Amino acid sequence: MPVYSEKVMEHFMNPRNVGEIEDADGIGEVGNPVCGDMMTFYIKVDDNHLSDVKFKTFGCGAAIAVSSIVSEMAMGNTLEEARKITPALVAEQLEGLPKNKYHCSNLGAQALNKAIDDYLKKQGKKVKSKRRGKNEKE
Ligand code: FES
Repeated sequence: MPVYSEKVMEHFMNPRNVGEIEDADGIGEVGNPVCGDMMTFYIKVDDNHLSDVKFKTFGCGAAIAVSSIVSEMAMGNTLEEARKITPALVAEQLEGLPKNKYHCSNLGAQALNKAIDDYLKKQGKKVKSKRRGKNEKE
């Protein structure tokens, strides 16, 4: 069993912003084919800011903690700021992740980016997300 930081445990036990936004402006779903975990992010965008961020995650404890902290980090951000949430930053905010759980932080950053891509596409804008990983399910 991996050793998690207190922060990971805290977010795992009390995840923030769990749920679905029914009239979401953007939805991003990613999955990891190896572990089978799935993560979906829902965003509301108001004046280029993320006015609401929610998630649904079917996965390991780290994936749930990652989803929770990503939702907190992204809330209120501009789209550009939210794009800067990298897996490394997520792991840092969680006071570290075990090596074999690092891919869980990738999922969080990817799902959020995909939700932003989805929003931009719906707006008829160009999508230039660079974060297209092999973990991503199309
Ligand atoms: Fe795969 Fe955590 S073990 S997302």
